Amino acid sequence: MRAGVLARAGGRQNGTMQRVLSGIQPTADSFHLGNYLGALRNWVTLQDTSEAFYAVVDLHAITVPTDPEVLLERTRTSFAQLLALGVDPAKSTIFVQSQVPAHAELAWLMQCITGFGEASRMTQFKDKSAKSGASNASVGLFTYPILQAADILAYSADVVPVGEDQRQHLELTRDLAQRFNARFGETFVVPEPLILKGAARVADLQTPTAKMSKSAPPGCLELLETQQALTKKIKRAVTDSVGVVAYDPQEQPGVANLLEILAALTNSSIPEVTGQFAGSGYGALKGAVADAVVSFAVPVATATREYLADPATLDDIMNAGAAKAQAVAGAKVADAYAAMGLRR
Ligand code: TRP
Repeated sequence: MRAGVLARAGGRQNGTMQRVLSGIQPTADSFHLGNYLGALRNWVTLQDTSEAFYAVVDLHAITVPTDPEVLLERTRTSFAQLLALGVDPAKSTIFVQSQVPAHAELAWLMQCITGFGEASRMTQFKDKSAKSGASNASVGLFTYPILQAADILAYSADVVPVGEDQRQHLELTRDLAQRFNARFGETFVVPEPLILKGAARVADLQTPTAKMSKSAPPGCLELLETQQALTKKIKRAVTDSVGVVAYDPQEQPGVANLLEILAALTNSSIPEVTGQFAGSGYGALKGAVADAVVSFAVPVATATREYLADPATLDDIMNAGAAKAQAVAGAKVADAYAAMGLRR
């Protein structure tokens, strides 16, 4: 029977709660403030209103050359940081992608219904492959968005919180879900992107017109850095010669970035924080930003180290998350296999 199967019915624990899925790559030794304020902070709030699945997507990380020891370390540290930031295994399913076989299995099926030309239009692949010289890029980097589609579709996610840069991958995911459903019968939920507009866009402290990025360490505030390192970077943040604390992203991008960080971390509005520094200089603003960043990041770093210091417990949390994830995703992959005429 092709039609009758309601895609939404499979594995849903609570018919009224929206289901959310998102993923983050373990490609750095630490998450940075931009990751937190731009995305991870929303993961924490969404787990109260949604049935959430959050993955450390290590299969995506190997699309570029990666040292095995470093990858394992970064995967654990990423997972521990998610816990430290408040992603709660009692509320959400938090797991490591490679521990859940359903992702790689479904990715293959999805690759077989994706056009070569369609995949070739993904702008992130063009950008990333241009860096290494297009012919040196792996085929895995080329099919990266299709693995991402599998991540999402395996869980029947209704909503996918992502940054603006992932919009095209979400469009592909929707196209593939619709195509599969049309060819093989209703199987997948067509997900909606949740492009986090309200989320703070954190800029590089040295080049405030660029996004904060791990590839530019002097302008990047890593959550696992020491208090001293964080303070030093903030004190050295690039400002301007205007000399007045005002929120003007065009003319004063460095100061605007500091105000945005402060507003986000203190749950205040931009006018509120700007008002607090009327008449004071940039030094006072930087001092307040440093205080806010340190009092947020240092406890997160401490909690992360505590999780990492107890590998057996961390393994238990990872294994339990993977089992919960596989129970949901494995059932959906079985449906997809059957729909395509594959026997298991
Ligand atoms: N490509 C995403 C990014 O770089 C990471 C990712 C992988 C993801 N799989 C996902 C995000 C599934 C959302 C849903 O940000």
